[in-house]
Amino acid sequence: MRMVDLIEKKRDGHELTTEEIRFVIEGYTHDEIPDYQVSALAMAIFFRDMNDRERADLTLAMVESGETIDLSDIRGVKVDKHSTGGVGDTTTLVLAPLVAAAGIPVAKMSGRGLGHTGGTLDKLEAIPGFHIELSREEFASLVNESLIAVIGQSGNLTPADKKLYALRDVTATVESIPLIASSIMSKKIASGADAIVLDVKTGAGAFMKDEEDARRLASAMVAIGNQVGRNTMAVISDMSQPLGYAIGNSLEVQEAIDTLRGEGPADLLELCLALGSQMVFLGGGAASLEEAEELLKELLTNGKALEKFKEFIRNQGGNPAVVDDPSLLPQAPYRIELPARQNGFVSQMIADEIGTAAMVLGAGRATKESVIDLSVGLMLNKKVGDSVKVGESLVTIHANQEDVADVMERLYAAIEISAQAETPLLVRGVV
Ligand code: URA
Ligand code: CA
Repeated sequence: MRMVDLIEKKRDGHELTTEEIRFVIEGYTHDEIPDYQVSALAMAIFFRDMNDRERADLTLAMVESGETIDLSDIRGVKVDKHSTGGVGDTTTLVLAPLVAAAGIPVAKMSGRGLGHTGGTLDKLEAIPGFHIELSREEFASLVNESLIAVIGQSGNLTPADKKLYALRDVTATVESIPLIASSIMSKKIASGADAIVLDVKTGAGAFMKDEEDARRLASAMVAIGNQVGRNTMAVISDMSQPLGYAIGNSLEVQEAIDTLRGEGPADLLELCLALGSQMVFLGGGAASLEEAEELLKELLTNGKALEKFKEFIRNQGGNPAVVDDPSLLPQAPYRIELPARQNGFVSQMIADEIGTAAMVLGAGRATKESVIDLSVGLMLNKKVGDSVKVGESLVTIHANQEDVADVMERLYAAIEISAQAETPLLVRGVV
């Protein structure tokens, strides 16, 4: 087989066979096919697309390029949730204990990652004593006994994806539905998920800013999952403004606790119910999405979800007293209000710009080496659609220094107040 023939085939709009796709991914992983040929193929795929069979083959070839995690020693259907990333997305912290309380095992592998705030692991480490250094055996027995545990990512998963993603980044081929969908799905499958729930975000703070693109990506990933034997569902959700009120590690833990107590922000609760219902349904805990949602609502009102969160914290060395006394979480020394400069309705809170303001405060990492301040972040006091009067606080800034003039300017630039505005629809679709 010659790589040049495969590039030509795809360039001319023909489909690649399973063997041809394997040849490319194996050859690329082992440095037998050079970057320039793979970038030419990526560009051909960008223009010519791939059919569902090619997309599934590409996904599996990337899974097979590295190690895979075997969760077969954990009983039950392991449902994993993946978000394409947004600002102040506190859903994982809520969903893990909520879904476990519904009887579905949550065997979560999580990363730190770059971004506006830390990853789920960083957020959990805001809980005094909480640690994720579990052996593989401890992890499995915790999930078997308690239905919930979180461990750091390890192992050389999907090396082909790592190489290809880096190459796409510098060859203007990131924005290709078959390439994005196979990239995300290969990582989930290699991590051992039996079933997958996807939260595909759309809007300013999302990777897929356009709603139609988000819908196409969601359908592509659901098709891949179902073709390779992993039941997959997706929610398309709005990320034009941050999710919930809290953006920052400690603040989001507190927001998750409020939500598990049934007192969280309406949008965060709505999304957690939409995603959680799919997780419970795919995990076999309910016969329909409606039945799953009823069950989750009950667990939020009868205190069982909150109780599960305490158990989870205790199991991993953390102090469960934070649930009843959030002042035990790291607290920023300064709280500074951002007063509205005009009357009206909040018509925009541009998610990515607000996320950057949180990062400037120290809530997230700009590079792998950056150190996060778990205590800092933003608490939104208003959301899009809310009325506001001059002088009322739009945002409370939790800072580790008194001078936050640059953060205030960023926030003013990201928040628009108009004569009228409506609350945006959060759940845009379900696949
Ligand atoms: N996220 C990924 O993991 N892969 C892509 O290709 C795009 C976004
Ligand atoms: Ca939030």
